[in-house]
Amino acid sequence: MLSQWLKQLDQLASAPLEMATAMPKQIYTEPEVLKHEYEHIFMKEWICVGRADSLPNEGDYMTVEIADQPLIVIRGKDQKITAMSNICLHRMMILAKGRGNAKRFTCPYHAWTYRPDGQLVSAAYMDKTACFDKSKMRLPQARCEDYLGWIYVNLDPEAKPVHECLAPLTELLAPYNMEHYVSIFEEEHRWNTNWKCLTENFMEGYHLPVAHQGTVGAHFNLMDTEFDDRGRFEHFTYQYFTKKGSAPVGTAHPSNTSLEGKWRSTSIMPTVFPSHMYVLAPDHLWYLSLLPDGTDHVHIRYGAAMAPEVLENVDNQDEYIAKAKVFLDDVQEEDRFVVEGIFKGAKAPLSTSGPLSWLERENHEFTAYLAGRLCHT
Ligand code: FES
Ligand SMILES: [Fe+2]
Repeated sequence: MLSQWLKQLDQLASAPLEMATAMPKQIYTEPEVLKHEYEHIFMKEWICVGRADSLPNEGDYMTVEIADQPLIVIRGKDQKITAMSNICLHRMMILAKGRGNAKRFTCPYHAWTYRPDGQLVSAAYMDKTACFDKSKMRLPQARCEDYLGWIYVNLDPEAKPVHECLAPLTELLAPYNMEHYVSIFEEEHRWNTNWKCLTENFMEGYHLPVAHQGTVGAHFNLMDTEFDDRGRFEHFTYQYFTKKGSAPVGTAHPSNTSLEGKWRSTSIMPTVFPSHMYVLAPDHLWYLSLLPDGTDHVHIRYGAAMAPEVLENVDNQDEYIAKAKVFLDDVQEEDRFVVEGIFKGAKAPLSTSGPLSWLERENHEFTAYLAGRLCHT
């Protein structure tokens, strides 16, 4: 059956947008597809695990699980952020949970203890074990890179550096100086939907005036949407829109001198495949980074950051941040309603995938990305 669904996906990917539909529903619902995604996408691609400034100090760490691999992401002695297996080298217990600051990681099972670089430093009652050499035991490392203030992790030692993958995007983003944006919050959530339902939802603006009429949709004119006419990129897609009139947020602060002309009121919305999406405005950004948790749940890392000149110039920072968060939380709830709804729809016997609008161009590009990774392995 997997080969049949993948064949349909591949055929759809090669159709022009005018003839495109949403993906076959089994692509969202079938465990076999998820297994294939783990192997060919989540074990191979760069996955964003948050903002580098959320781990400001030596020893600050977070835990994350990518494709069944628990990882610790930690800022080390040299200020560099690295990622390593979060699994004890004794009998494979998970070492750390959540986030925090640590000088050592001690396994909760038999207390084997590791340094932040993964080196085993103590293990009691192992003196009679001939096959044990502490000095040779270090937690396996994963690739980890800082890209313009984002932490990206990759389980594939052969993967091309994230900077190379995203080079055409870097040029566009440069005048925003996104790497200096200051994080104002980061949270983790779990919703009852397939990860791709939420990825696709974030990509398209078609739903904004309807599903978000209570929040962002009220100020959004769909005809302001613009796409890159250079065609499809391998590792990302994006759209952008320029705010007209005197929008209260989304425009450059007067002290911002790097954005010029229409770019002072233009927001870019990149999706870095497979599952990192953000809205980058001249004054703030907000993002989601997704990981599948079964076919029917998605793990969401959700956060926002502000341009430093904006934060410096507000009278009451706490109040300003709290207000921004309430607004974004409302947007999130509106999205939750639709992405949990469409996942329920995908499981219904009488449901079918319908044709796409020109405003859903990025969804069709996502289909092509998935087909490229899943259908030609
Ligand atoms: S499993 Fe970690 S010390 Fe035994
Ligand atoms: Fe939305």
